[in-house]
Amino acid sequence: MQEVQTPIIPIVGDLVRATPGTISLGQGMVSYGPPREAIDALAGVADDPRTHQYGAVEGTSALRAALADKLGAENRIPVDGSCRVVVTAGGNMAFFNAILAVADVGDEVILQTPYYFNHEMAIGMAGCRAVLVGTDDRYQLRLDRIERAITPRTKAIVTVSPNNPTGAVYPEKALRDVNELCRSRGVFHVHDEAYEYFTYGGVTPFSPGSIPGASAHTISLYSFSKAYGFAGWRIGYMVIPASLEEAVRKIQDTNLICPTMIAQAAALGALRAGASYCRGKLAGMAEVREVARRAFSEIASFCAAPVTDGAFYVFLRIESPLDPLALVERLVKEHGVAAIPGTAFGISSGCSLRVAFGALETATAAQGIGRLVLGLRKIVKG
Ligand SMILES: Cc1ncc(COP(=O)(O)O)c(C=O)c1O
Repeated sequence: MQEVQTPIIPIVGDLVRATPGTISLGQGMVSYGPPREAIDALAGVADDPRTHQYGAVEGTSALRAALADKLGAENRIPVDGSCRVVVTAGGNMAFFNAILAVADVGDEVILQTPYYFNHEMAIGMAGCRAVLVGTDDRYQLRLDRIERAITPRTKAIVTVSPNNPTGAVYPEKALRDVNELCRSRGVFHVHDEAYEYFTYGGVTPFSPGSIPGASAHTISLYSFSKAYGFAGWRIGYMVIPASLEEAVRKIQDTNLICPTMIAQAAALGALRAGASYCRGKLAGMAEVREVARRAFSEIASFCAAPVTDGAFYVFLRIESPLDPLALVERLVKEHGVAAIPGTAFGISSGCSLRVAFGALETATAAQGIGRLVLGLRKIVKG
């Protein structure tokens, strides 16, 4: 465990708390809570004796059936005999389940950098090695490098689209290519779609699990945390090949026994509100995104901020010899704004920062971005 990186969010959180008035562009959360349908679905649930007992290890049949309908209708993933839907306590647990199911100690899992830090941490905790492959200047996949990173110990290739921490949305062709590479080389394609509803400008994310014949080697991961403002309820789910069912059931039975019954009831209610609930929040996010685009274009001479199509992140590459954590400390103390150092996402060279704008009201986020741009100007350019 000593080799696993320390989660960065609490470190930056401590800094923010120690400096009252700081606007945090740190944590990747949304500003809203669950839809009314989720809360209404709880009526009577607390009085049902089954709520207080252990439930099915893979989730309640009612929730899994509703998820299968959603997966078929929205992701074009047919939930037939070739795959299974498993409800988890969030997307992070779904990822950990996937790694434990497919890899042994000493095996390798390919991640794209910048990566989502909990993915890298989970791979380390499982006793496996994260093999890092850099994305391009616009944070898109580099198939040739991914292919070259495959060794006899590779068990899975991980992709996240829309991406945390860059917001990149991978085109259908790129994901089809990765999925085909996985099929031909006998490794799993683990694809995280936690931000599936968060896209802008009419861009639609592609689910590689929908490719005919992909179900035998594709693991698709989802989360209610962002889509339904559900972070504290801890509900996610995964679609796994039928061949992994036994392994995942063992893992989940040991770690969780069953997803929380009352949270599953709320999740079933949230699905009644559906994708339109989240999509209704996107106009506000798009406004902040536009504010960010304009603000960062003013400092383009020393700070690259590639505009991407999804999620609620901007990943900045700053021309500066400063250590990114030292830069964040100064931004908090001198300018009252926080972001996350790029080192947490596996970017060890240069100075990069992740800016998250999902958790704040529009005006506060805009104010935070203003402070950030001013702070970067002063600190980096003197
Ligand atoms: C790409 C990605 N996957 C999974 C998660 C974790 O979601 P959950 O709250 O469902 O565990 C996050 C959270 O930030 C994320 O960014």
